[in-house]
Amino acid sequence: MKILTVYFSRKGNNYCNGRVCFLERGNTDIASEAVQRAAGGDRFEIVPDKTYPSNYYACTVEAQAELRLSRKVPVKAYKDDLETYDLVFIGYPNWWGTFPMAVRTFLAHYDWTGKTVAPFCTNEGSGLGRSERDLTKVCAGARLLPGLAIHGAEVQDKEAAIAAWARRCVNETEEP
Ligand SMILES: Cc1cc2nc3c(=O)[nH]c(=O)nc-3n(C[C@H](O)[C@H](O)[C@H](O)COP(=O)(O)O)c2cc1C
Repeated sequence: MKILTVYFSRKGNNYCNGRVCFLERGNTDIASEAVQRAAGGDRFEIVPDKTYPSNYYACTVEAQAELRLSRKVPVKAYKDDLETYDLVFIGYPNWWGTFPMAVRTFLAHYDWTGKTVAPFCTNEGSGLGRSERDLTKVCAGARLLPGLAIHGAEVQDKEAAIAAWARRCVNETEEP
């Protein structure tokens, strides 16, 4: 079975436990590495082909406008051979209740028929939000496994929980 972890993550100024903080590495980036360590396979970063404001609040305003206007945020690159993978973990931060628009652009590029998809979402309180429902649309035809919500500020302490979930997803895909 071929396994891939794709993820979007924005390092720098963010929100942690009720105040603005600076992340040397993005929370979802850290979580995605834990997923890959437990599940094996490859990892691919979804990078938007634009620069978001480094200021946290300015970034939230821009991201909200993109979502409201259903803007297609271009990505720097696609993973050519994504169609060859059986299980795809999809990691993203919760932005206004769902995944960032660049993740939507990336996912909409592929035919998901017959694949298994397992979402994980770092957040500051909104959990997975409505992202799982949104994934059923953009990854139409995929089998969607129950997602994992991770409190972003605690991601460093969540390795065991992330690993357990990732292994469950692998087992589920092998023996549905
Ligand atoms: C543009 C933007 C919007 C956000 N919206 C939400 C939200 O609606 N709910 C929430 O719980 N956290 C929200 N957050 C916080 C992030 O989901 C959280 O800090 C996440 O762990 C960041 O992951 P990253 O470092 O991988 O980008 C938002 C952060 C940003 C930058």
